[in-house]
Amino acid sequence: MQKLDKLYEGKAKKLYATDDPEVLWVEYMNQATAGNGAKKAQIEGKGSLNNRITSVVFDLLKARGVDSHFMQRLSDTEQLVQKMDMYPLEIIMRNTAAGSFAKRYGVEEGTKLARPILEFCYKSDDLGDPFINDDGIVALGLASQEELDEISRQARAVNDALLDIFAKIDVQLVDFKIEEGRNAQGAILLADEITPDTCRLWDLKDGSGRIEHLDKDLFRRDLGNIIPAYEEILSRLEQLAEDE
Ligand code: C5P
Repeated sequence: MQKLDKLYEGKAKKLYATDDPEVLWVEYMNQATAGNGAKKAQIEGKGSLNNRITSVVFDLLKARGVDSHFMQRLSDTEQLVQKMDMYPLEIIMRNTAAGSFAKRYGVEEGTKLARPILEFCYKSDDLGDPFINDDGIVALGLASQEELDEISRQARAVNDALLDIFAKIDVQLVDFKIEEGRNAQGAILLADEITPDTCRLWDLKDGSGRIEHLDKDLFRRDLGNIIPAYEEILSRLEQLAEDE
């Protein structure tokens, strides 16, 4: 497989064309951003950790019957994925109140939710990714009702599988964001990444009762260095993959 022109550069990844029109070459970068790019830093080692974490997570999901765009990891910072036509949606699943949800509804962070909550945001840096509901998505033509039903079904299946994966490594899956798209054959599939940049992961091994963040909130809230936390997540996931 040959790496060709750069097609896109986002906040954390660069996408390149390949000699196969249905395949993209992804390069994970060290850049960390928060608050829609308001806070920015280069963190040595972050790109490699996220590339390796998302590769293991996609493999563990596949073993649980959840397919994704992921094809193979090429190096520490690179992977091959199916080329997708992405829905402009941030698909958020919540199991525990935290972040913008806790703030919006005045709920204490850490409150267990009686059922998982699926939320959508319209992906637009200019607008600050505003909240959108099902009617808004269909009315604006971001997805058809049938597509939205399938996206929602997959988001719940991803949550069920991730809850199983993270419980096995003593991590509480608080919430996460995924993205979905259609591949060249028109199949709707999980895409983008699943990493501590896109999930809230709290350590259950700590046992102190305090919230021990193993995710990007360490960076967002100036709570400490993300690298040891991301390394801990990777090493527990790799151990699980080996055991399975
Ligand atoms: O900030 P908020 O509470 O809405 O985030 C919910 C979840 O979605 C968190 O796990 C966060 O990491 C993720 N997220 C993301 N990218 C965004 C917004 C949220 O990965 N742009």
